[in-house]
Amino acid sequence: MIDIEHLTKRYGATTVVDDVSFRVEEGTVAVVVGTSGAGKSTLLRMINRLVEPSAGRVLIDGKDTMTIPEDELRHRIGYVIQGYGLFPHRTVAQNIATVPRLLGWDRRRIAARVEELLDLFQLDAAEFATKFPHQLSGGQQQRVGVARALAAKPAVLLMDEPFGALDPVIRGKAQDDLRAIQKRLGTTIMLVTHDMNEAFHLGDRIAVMDRARLLQYASPADILTHPAEAFVEELVGTTERPFRLLSLTTVQDALEPGSAEGQPVPLSASLRDALSQLIWLGRQALPVTDSSGAPVGRISVDRILRHGRADP
Ligand SMILES: Nc1ncnc2c1ncn2[C@@H]1O[C@H](COP(=O)(O)OP(=O)(O)OP(=O)(O)O)[C@@H](O)[C@H]1O
Ligand SMILES: [Mg+2]
Repeated sequence: MIDIEHLTKRYGATTVVDDVSFRVEEGTVAVVVGTSGAGKSTLLRMINRLVEPSAGRVLIDGKDTMTIPEDELRHRIGYVIQGYGLFPHRTVAQNIATVPRLLGWDRRRIAARVEELLDLFQLDAAEFATKFPHQLSGGQQQRVGVARALAAKPAVLLMDEPFGALDPVIRGKAQDDLRAIQKRLGTTIMLVTHDMNEAFHLGDRIAVMDRARLLQYASPADILTHPAEAFVEELVGTTERPFRLLSLTTVQDALEPGSAEGQPVPLSASLRDALSQLIWLGRQALPVTDSSGAPVGRISVDRILRHGRADP
């Protein structure tokens, strides 16, 4: 759990982070979005004290970070910087082993951990362990960067635009991988991005920053349905908004009684996926089945479109 309390950073007369407070719950992902220069990286860097706050404080699991020795703090908090930041003259295995070595783990434990992480990130150890960063693709470098940050099992992971350099397809894959790994390890993550799609895909909570201030900190659904200010609404995008809303709602929420012909849609599918399937198959309605495959009702184009327009 990360508690950010009245965190402020000034450079001379300029305030670049202005009295920001929010809590990231244990085992959840908070995504920080906002325009360039809003103060996102500065906020992130104050958490592991790469930047000293001018005012306010950060608590990790209830403990003020100022009371934790700096080197210990950086071992407990994984940090992924933009551009992966791999050491160019060290192999993949040596890169991943960086923090465990600093912590004095024995060789066998380090080797086992490196292998476990390579496996987790679907990088074949026999092929990749001895390669150097320049021999890897961008997506592979990114995975090694995240693996390295996770090596010493940090409870908290800070990520500053970790997928910024990836093409959209690999980026989607990387996001899915991160989400799966985060769920499995229960890591608390704070991630900075420019990409609203990424924020909606990964965030349990989204923090919207603009010109040093935190405008809103809320769930993706709340950000969509109750944007705190015009700026947030603009950032979310008026045209994209109905589709985003549909991604957050499942078939369950728009289920109708009755039946329909055609390939069934699972109850757990998002309305966005259901709509794609309806359009793809050229149907007005499709049957819906539960997890055991039993029919439970139907889903129709009309009903989904009404949901998309819904403006509570
Ligand atoms: N060491 C510094 N000295 C003076 N000003 C700084 C320093 N570091 C950052 N700033 C200023 O603080 C503001 C916020 O910077 P920050 O890097 O946190 O923005 P950001 O939201 O991460 O932007 P981007 O999306 O472009 O990465 C900027 O206006 C920047 O110029
Ligand atoms: Mg930044």
